[in-house]
Parts: sequence; C-alpha cells; structure tokens
Amino acid sequence: MLFKNAPQRVYVNEVATRDGFQNEDAFVPTVDKIHIIDRLSLAGLAKIEVTSFVSSKAIPNLRDAADVMAGITRRQGVVYSALVPNRQGALRALEAKVDEVNLVMSIGEKHNLANLRMTCAQSFVAFRDIMGVVKGSGVRTMGSVATAFGCPFEGEQPLSRLLWAVEQYLELGIQSVDLCDTVGTGHPRMIYTYCRAVKEAFPDLPVTVHFHDTRGMGLANVVAALEAGINSFDTSLGGIGGCPYAPDATGNISTEDTVHMLEACGVATGVDLDALIALGRELPALLGHDVPSRLGKVGKRTDLKPFPASLEQRGRIEAAPSTEAYRVPSV
Ligand code: COA
Ligand code: ZN
Repeated sequence: MLFKNAPQRVYVNEVATRDGFQNEDAFVPTVDKIHIIDRLSLAGLAKIEVTSFVSSKAIPNLRDAADVMAGITRRQGVVYSALVPNRQGALRALEAKVDEVNLVMSIGEKHNLANLRMTCAQSFVAFRDIMGVVKGSGVRTMGSVATAFGCPFEGEQPLSRLLWAVEQYLELGIQSVDLCDTVGTGHPRMIYTYCRAVKEAFPDLPVTVHFHDTRGMGLANVVAALEAGINSFDTSLGGIGGCPYAPDATGNISTEDTVHMLEACGVATGVDLDALIALGRELPALLGHDVPSRLGKVGKRTDLKPFPASLEQRGRIEAAPSTEAYRVPSV
C-alpha cells in the first residue's frame, strides 16, 4: 500500500536563493535576497541553501554571497548552507560563518567540465583540500552528486557510478549526500531503485534528494523517493532554478507544491504552507517573470472558489440532494 513504509515526517530544504537566483538573468538585489531568506526562516524550513561561494564570473548573480550571509537574521534550528566548489569557496564560506558547506560535482564527466571546469577526479582532489579547510571548524559537510539520474551531454548514468561517487565522498569524511537530478531525467522507477540502493549500501548515511521538474516528473519522483525511505528533499520557492551550464535546465520542484502534496498525503513537513504561498506570490514582481509553482496560481486543494452568483439565485443548491444520499466510499 502506498505510503505504508514512507517516512511520516520529512525535512524540506529551501534552495531558491541559490539554485533559483543563480539562474536569473537580472541581478536580484542583495536586500531582496535577505528579505526572502528571512521570511523563509520563519516558515519552518529545515535548511536554507543561502547562496554559493563560486567564481563571480561563473555565477554573477551570487557575487554578493558574503553580504547576504552577513545580512540575514538567523533562526535557531534552521541550517544555513552554501555551495562551494573549491578551496577558495570554502575559505569564503567559513569566513561568512555558514553552518554547512555543500560540495558539488557531476558524475557526468562532461557536465562537470562544463559546470566546474574540472574532471571528476580533479573535483575529488579539490574536495580533499576543502575538507582540510573545514576540518575542526564544526561546519557540517554535504556532498552533492549532480547529474545522478542523467547527464545532459552523456545521458543516463549507471547506478554503479552513483554508488562510486557516494563512496568517494564518504572516504573524504563527508557527513551527508544529496542526489541531484540536475536536468529532470530521473523517472519514478529509476529514483526508487537508485535511492533504495544508496540506502542499502550506506544505511547510516543521511541522504537528501534534489529534483528538477524539467520533464514533469518531479513530484512523482518525490513519492518514489519517499517509498525508498528518503526523508529529506530540496525544493525551491516558486519552482525557480536550474544550472546555467546545463542546456534547457529548468526549475526545481516547487516548495509550495511539494509541501502541499506531502501534507495532503499525511506526511508532516513542519512548514507553514500559507506563509510560503504568500512569499512565493511575491516572486514574479521581484524577478520580472512568471514562476512555475502551481499553488501560487490556483491555491490549495482545500481553498473553495466562490460559486457563480447567477446560479445561486436559481435555487439549484437547495434542489440538489444532500451528500447523505450518496454512498461515499471512505478513502
Ligand atoms: N570564489 C570566488 N572566486 C573564485 C572562486 C571562488 N570559489 N574560485 C575561483 N575564483 C576566481 C579566481 O580567483 C579567478 O579569478 P581571476 O580571474 O580574477 O584571477 C577566476 O575565478 C578563475 O579561477 P580558476 O581557478 O581558473 O577557475 P576556473 O575558471 O577553472 O573555474 C570554478 C572553476 C569552479 C571556480 C568555476 O567554474 C565556478 O565557480 N563554477 C561554479 C558553477 C556553479 O556554481 N554552477 C551551478 C551550481 S551546480
Ligand atoms: Zn539544482
């Protein structure tokens, strides 16, 4: 039975201010980034990936990473994370007092080269350096496996390669991993199989998944991952996001839509959905374009729409039989 073995409580990690803003053409003002993060902090998210400490030539929109970290109001219990690709990034992130550094490499060699200008082997050498910098600081470490479910240039990646990458991270002493579907090529059956395999091979390792809805499989993949025992999900307010170095990349699964679906299914998230929807509705004006989230447009499944007044006057409501007259199966 669906949801019988799924976790009853999950952790939702917000990535809009990193994955989302990195992909915007126009610079999002620092003050607006801080405003969004502070509002997200109050909404009950487990973690916020605030920004990334990368080359400002590679990702111009996040060139204000240090100022954003310095400007936000931290809420106890929320983990403030940042993406770092190399030693320089790690030093900047520690200086900015992040709670966690998120290391990233793609298991697709070609995407790793396009995105980070490194082979996978070179990435792991850089990570050894990063781990040396972070050691003893108390800062948490997460290893992201990008293109885990398919590379835009090389296609599907074998499960063995994903397991290899996770093992490499563990050998470096990483504390948790994030399996990222960078261009939305994972499908529910694959997600279930790969996530089960990672959980079985590394039973004590905290595993997060990070889905993009590029091909419309995002929320179905959440259900598949839940069934595989995953209890931590990266999501993005408004469903914005995407890697600028992956052709045709589009947004992450939306935080509002994901929380809404999970809560409807009886899976607790600890997130204030109304606050999120209200915040998500501010994004189009801030970014100057529409955003993919459905909830922002149509509201929750429990939000009733006004019945047309013209029909109300025709007395049809009174004429309809009461629901008692129907045999409603219990669900
Ligand atoms: N923070 C700030 N600046 C950095 C940096 C960091 N972490 N790492 C490198 N730089 C700067 C260098 O100082 C150098 O500056 P200069 O030209 O003024 O001297 C410049 O970037 C190039 O450095 P180099 O070491 O030659 O890097 P590269 O050109 O080979 O690029 C990365 C490698 C990893 C720095 C770059 O590809 C990058 O930042 N990629 C991030 C991509 C990303 O975030 N993608 C989306 C998330 S998955
Ligand atoms: Zn992403």
